[in-house]
Amino acid sequence: MADLNELSSKLIAIKDEITSQLKDIASSKAVYEYRKTLMDAKNGQIGSLMKEMGKIPNELKAEYGKKVNEIKNWAQAQFDAVDARLKEAEMKKRYESESIDVTLPAVKPAKGNLHPNTQVRNQIVDIFGSMGFQIFEGTEIETDYYNFTALNIPQDHPARDMQDTFYLSPQFLLRTQTSAGQIHVMETQKPPIKIISPGKVFRSDDDATHSPMFTQMEGLVVDKGISLCDLQGMLDVFVEKIFGEGVHTRLRPSYFPFTEPSVEVDVSCFQCHGKGCPLCKHTGWIEVLGAGVVNKKVLEGCGIDSNVYSGIAFGIGIDRIAMLKYGINNIKLLFESDLRVLGQIDD
Ligand code: PHE
Repeated sequence: MADLNELSSKLIAIKDEITSQLKDIASSKAVYEYRKTLMDAKNGQIGSLMKEMGKIPNELKAEYGKKVNEIKNWAQAQFDAVDARLKEAEMKKRYESESIDVTLPAVKPAKGNLHPNTQVRNQIVDIFGSMGFQIFEGTEIETDYYNFTALNIPQDHPARDMQDTFYLSPQFLLRTQTSAGQIHVMETQKPPIKIISPGKVFRSDDDATHSPMFTQMEGLVVDKGISLCDLQGMLDVFVEKIFGEGVHTRLRPSYFPFTEPSVEVDVSCFQCHGKGCPLCKHTGWIEVLGAGVVNKKVLEGCGIDSNVYSGIAFGIGIDRIAMLKYGINNIKLLFESDLRVLGQIDD
């Protein structure tokens, strides 16, 4: 290329092309790529212009160089302007997509809480613990002997029907009551005995207030001169601490083969305080547990002299207390692990 006119028309064509290309370019990245191609020293439309310098007569070299520099500067200015405009738009878009609305309510941090049964169990353990009771942990699999026979419920006793049992074999079963633990304690410990024993029990029973698996807290005291008065005294302390001040107990005659006399323990209604409400079925009283004076036969069977020692025992339904305390009307709600239910109960 020896002619500057030829160069000039070439430069006009390049300018036109750049102008039209930049009009439709969509991103700063595309601007960068396009610029790189143009300026490429070997093949770029602008970059390669310098290669031609050798073919230019000496007297035109200065003019040629000047024109090439001019178009370089011009092109750079075009690129810079478009790049700045696109970058600003891109930043704006990014800020918008990443922006946080600080006025939105914060996401509540998930907070765990203990299962209602665990809460009630811990409360009961604390209450009886403060009265000097120790914890005995029984086993969920028991023998027929500990669950029934030793508790004065022999093979053909009708009381076995009260507790529909899951047998694992003729000898082994899932305990139907934590009372089985009483026998283990009395066989291995000498009076004075003062234990509570929480745990799962199992009965083939299933409706809104019964579940095949539920939880009990056994209590057993054996010492000299222990009577039903001691039982009621302790239970009065217990119900007041669990259900609130002023709540007290009432004992009604009942029957359990392992206690004599046996009682059903009611608490005065902690909701209406005796006036009558749906919770106490308008009686002013709510049945909460079974208890009694340990049957002499049971003491003797465990090698405890019933002429010297006497005992009281009680069996609290932990689930029942939890349902009453927290207004749960279906025992299944306690065992379905629905966090929307369980999360509401945090004492
Ligand atoms: N074990 C009895 C039941 O499950 C409750 C109970 C315990 C009664 C201790 C008297 C003494 O129904």
